Amino acid sequence: MFTLSIGRQQQINALAGKTLDKEESNMRNTIIITAASIMLLVIFYGESSFADSHGIIKYRQNVMKSTAGHMGAIVSILKNSLPMQAHVADHARSMMQNSKMTLSMFPKGSGEGRTKAKQEIWGNWSKFESAAKAFERESAKLAEVAESGDMEAFAKQVRTTAKTCGGCHKHFRERD
Ligand code: HEC
Repeated sequence: MFTLSIGRQQQINALAGKTLDKEESNMRNTIIITAASIMLLVIFYGESSFADSHGIIKYRQNVMKSTAGHMGAIVSILKNSLPMQAHVADHARSMMQNSKMTLSMFPKGSGEGRTKAKQEIWGNWSKFESAAKAFERESAKLAEVAESGDMEAFAKQVRTTAKTCGGCHKHFRERD
């Protein structure tokens, strides 16, 4: 009887131990799964924020290139007296439209990666803002003068507008 009851006790202990083991391993699994989920989240979040700033960098470089394209087209027309003076107002308007996009193309945190944008942009945002506003103002004038058909005044305003590109690049864009 005695031995039998010890045996039973052992059986009960063994059973309890098994349950404990099972609980422990369940807990371990939960911990592993949680850790793995956190790791995945970190990886995906990290990747997507990298992808976001990569995308925005490419985007603003393309917009800048299109601005340079319109400016170059205007200069080609003026320099070679091309019979395309009717185009200059459209190029000027496109530049003006692009100028309005400038500030939103430089959100905080988009200074890392393959970019020539200097950290000073975010370190001295109000200065960057006034450089962008100068570009907006002068390209709006450019579009206005283009409508007037006064090519001399237009050529002068092209130079004034071009200065606003350099005015910003000098402080806020890395040299090649
Ligand atoms: C308010 C500031 C600012 C103004 C104004 C500005 N730019 Fe830029 N531009 C930048 C910055 C900053 C970059 C670098 C962007 C990057 O690499 O992420 C840049 C890049 C460029 C690039 C290189 C794009 C590439 O492929 O990497 C060209 C071309 C360019 N700008 C032309 C112009 C022209 C032309 C004007 C004026 C008509 C102008 N920009 C006005 C700030 C400005």
